[in-house]
Amino acid sequence: MNQKEFIRRRKNLLKMMGDCSIAILPSAQIKQRNRDVEYPFRQDSDFLYLTGFNEPDAVLVLIPGREQGEFVLFCRERDPKKELWNGRMLGLEGAVEEIGADDAFPIQDIDEILPGLMEGHEKVYYTMGKDAAFDNKVVSWVNKIKDHKRSGCHVPSEFIALDFYLHEMRLFKSRSEIALMRKAAKISAEAHHNAMKMAKPGLYEYQLEAGFLQIFRHYGYEAAYPSIVGSGKNGCILHYTENNAQMQDGDLVLIDAGVEVEGYASDVSRTFPVSGRFSDAQKILYQLVLDAQQAAIEKAVPGNHWNDPHDAAVRVITKGLKRLGLLQGDLRKLIKDNAYKRFFMHRTGHWLGLDVHDVGDYKIDKRWRMLEAGMVITVEPGLYIGSDEDIPACYRNTGIRIEDDVLITKQGNDVLSKHAVKSIADIEKMMAR
Ligand code: GLY
Ligand code: MN
Ligand code: MN
Repeated sequence: MNQKEFIRRRKNLLKMMGDCSIAILPSAQIKQRNRDVEYPFRQDSDFLYLTGFNEPDAVLVLIPGREQGEFVLFCRERDPKKELWNGRMLGLEGAVEEIGADDAFPIQDIDEILPGLMEGHEKVYYTMGKDAAFDNKVVSWVNKIKDHKRSGCHVPSEFIALDFYLHEMRLFKSRSEIALMRKAAKISAEAHHNAMKMAKPGLYEYQLEAGFLQIFRHYGYEAAYPSIVGSGKNGCILHYTENNAQMQDGDLVLIDAGVEVEGYASDVSRTFPVSGRFSDAQKILYQLVLDAQQAAIEKAVPGNHWNDPHDAAVRVITKGLKRLGLLQGDLRKLIKDNAYKRFFMHRTGHWLGLDVHDVGDYKIDKRWRMLEAGMVITVEPGLYIGSDEDIPACYRNTGIRIEDDVLITKQGNDVLSKHAVKSIADIEKMMAR
């Protein structure tokens, strides 16, 4: 991502904040996995959005109108010994030269320096409740200023939720963000194709997962979330990640996996037959989900609201389940009573961006928000038919989800993950290779 983009984002936020204010945003912290082993570091998405700085132990401070510069960064100082063990750090100079900070201070000096920066500013933009330890620090800095009040210090009097402004900005993707998300979706499509070509009865779900990760790592990226590879009845477990069953002839396998590119997620699901050929019953259920997805994607256009794609998917799914005899009764009443939820229990999508379930409000003043150009959503209807006795045997233990990443455009939409095949004929052709 170009530095100019980060500058533009900070400028927008500084403008929104107005005079007499200060914003404080900590980076993510390293988390312990077990003794002497850490989880892979993932930067906080808000912090990454505003800085592009990918290190822990850092705090971003924005101060509109500050004479010596509006962008202050607290971070780790360079230390050859630590870097020998744990890898390179940018340090204070790097924070200025590469990240564009106007001022950079050592993170261990923050208790001395930050209260002085806060003093005299009415409003503090800060996201409370995300990190209790850091919340306490912010309170301690305010108290420190209060202690000096008698010597004429001005104590901040208003706390404002920083995420409210930031998340509204993050909801609308810029040209360079869209380029990264398009790249991520394309790599994920290639990974799904690789899995389709690898699949065969006798293989274990984790071996298909390895086929995915191999493509992700080939491009130098990581998975955006733990991959779901559920064959047979495992496909009916929505967040199945054990991925340890042996795949059987005659089963479908549901794969929900996406790569993350420079922080931006893709989130793609495909479902296909382990053997390479759908059975007649599988074809019927699969086509129903595909029709529901198509109907939902058609509704994912400006002028419609957030819930229109979901309503469209629910209508197609409910109609289809009624036609198959899996639901009985009046269509309108079945929809009103949420009867479809027995087989389709999640929503049809979510915002997508730096977070897989990205930030942004779905409702404004209690009403579904309108879709607008620059938003990216997933469209992911599914059907999960368990093994209850009232279900015809040919449909039992079938989990199907088809998920694409969809950019809302002025003209309509653009399916970023369109390269991943999904028609019955195209999947069978891909698997025959
Ligand atoms: N991969 C999580 C989801 O589809 O929402
Ligand atoms: Mn999703
Ligand atoms: Mn998904």
